[in-house]
Amino acid sequence: MSLTVLDHPLVQHKLSILRDKNTGTKEFRELVQEIATLLAYEVTRDLPLKEVIVETPIAPAKTKVLAGKKLAIVPILRAGLGMVDGMMSLIPTAKVGHIGIFRDEKTLKPVAYYKKLPADIQERDAIIVDPMLATGGSAVEGINVLKEAGCKNIKLVCLISAPEGIKTVQEAHPDVDVFVASIDTCLNEHGYIVPGLGDAGDRLFGTK
Ligand code: PRP
Ligand code: URA
Repeated sequence: MSLTVLDHPLVQHKLSILRDKNTGTKEFRELVQEIATLLAYEVTRDLPLKEVIVETPIAPAKTKVLAGKKLAIVPILRAGLGMVDGMMSLIPTAKVGHIGIFRDEKTLKPVAYYKKLPADIQERDAIIVDPMLATGGSAVEGINVLKEAGCKNIKLVCLISAPEGIKTVQEAHPDVDVFVASIDTCLNEHGYIVPGLGDAGDRLFGTK
């Protein structure tokens, strides 16, 4: 498994505003979307290409187009939804699958409650999106769901992660490449990332 920390200045700047407790829902949503677009650029860096000839107004050009498997973007509900449009702005032909998972507040264990994937998911490379990788339980469960559906090439893209979550995903799914914008310090006693940004779903949807 590879771990990529995207420390691009634009990402770090936007992340700082995102973390601020005074940032409101509208701006929070816009920033999650913008950072997701920047992460999409990085996560697609290794997509295979093939050579083609196109006719420019001047002459034939030997050039390249995407050649690999088709992609699926798979948000983990709810908060992953906030990253879908940002990803799709660079990968507009991707299909979108949805996996619903929430964390039990007491046990911090993931509870899966919904799944709707593209019918041809086993033929697609999948990019799971979720802003937060805390204990890693939700991500591991999301990857399990995709693997059970026949998906072989899976990447995980998160905004903020804790070292505990990265370790858990690495141990459970060593074949999955992980992309994050930040590795924070630790988890607190409630399983929240420190310093983190609080509850991503609540901040995205204004539910608290
Ligand atoms: C958040 C977040 C992740 C999960 C991360 O979802 O979006 O899915 O917590 O925590 P973990 O790594 O410890 O599993 P939450 O459970 O709050 O659900 P929500 O998005 O529906 O609010
Ligand atoms: N889920 C969140 O939304 N935030 C955290 O810090 C941890 C899990």
